[in-house]
Amino acid sequence: MNAITSAGAASAASPTVTKAVIPAAGLGTRFLPATKATPKEMLPVVDRPAIQYVVEEASAAGLDDVLLVTGRNKRAVEDHFDNNTELEHVLAAKGDTERLEAVRQVTGLARMHHVRQGAPLGLGHAVLCARSHVGDEPFAVLLGDDLIGPGETLLEEMLRVRARYGGSVIALMRVEPDQTHLYGCAAVEPAEDADGGDGDGTLVRVTDLVEKPAREAAPSRYAVIGRYVLDPAVFDVLETTTPGHGGEIQLTDALRELATSDEHPVHGVIFSGRRYDTGDRASYLRTIVELACERPDLGPDFRQWLSEFVLSGRRMAATG
Ligand code: G1P
Repeated sequence: MNAITSAGAASAASPTVTKAVIPAAGLGTRFLPATKATPKEMLPVVDRPAIQYVVEEASAAGLDDVLLVTGRNKRAVEDHFDNNTELEHVLAAKGDTERLEAVRQVTGLARMHHVRQGAPLGLGHAVLCARSHVGDEPFAVLLGDDLIGPGETLLEEMLRVRARYGGSVIALMRVEPDQTHLYGCAAVEPAEDADGGDGDGTLVRVTDLVEKPAREAAPSRYAVIGRYVLDPAVFDVLETTTPGHGGEIQLTDALRELATSDEHPVHGVIFSGRRYDTGDRASYLRTIVELACERPDLGPDFRQWLSEFVLSGRRMAATG
């Protein structure tokens, strides 16, 4: 992406974003029984829990204060980002510096905080639970089911848009029409004064939003993916947002109110990079395979095995 190349003049009304909020209170029912006693955020993606990728992404974008909005049975998530002195001691005594470094790196990513959601009332409610920690500052929200390819700079782009335009910023991705019912969908128009961007349409103004519309009701094929940079004005809106799709308090509905109000612009950054979905079993498996293939340490051998495996499957299918 290269349309949003300049931070522009960050106005005094746009304080720097330092805080990230990661909702992690879901029950993970799609992965039962694996998630009966283990939070879904802790399911491994190659060799680290899914949520670690998300915290690494926040940290790489300079957000060093991370609030996890958790629920019951999420102790393992909290423990993962805490020191484990006993384990460190054992690894140090063995001289296993590589693993010691991997364990320590996790705690060094950000200052971690936790708040409990209490009741599963929806994503909007989870974000509202962050209000007292966030205060009157803009903040980022990262959803754990969406992993953005390591090295992608989507969040940085979004922070630059916030610094230039104020208001809120959401990440969008073009999806097939039969996929709109899985996402929030945005009506968009070209952004005004897109910073002399090269006009490749990666920055748009959001004019409307609908949570999980049927194909016929979707305002466009631009789906909201799980990255947001939000103005604190969203909290007042969420206080009065009534349950919407699925009987839950939807963040999309609160953002719709901001987007249609004129006072608080909502911009969209259209992302065309690598995004992985760990939200259901099939896409979770694809995520692991793709990320394993990309890894410099595991990738070469794994790719070779994978292509042999696929070829042998074809042969089996042809002779079967
Ligand atoms: C949530 C949001 C939805 C968004 C999606 C992205 O839905 O409500 O607007 O498009 O995340 O992953 P969920 O997938 O949690 O049902």
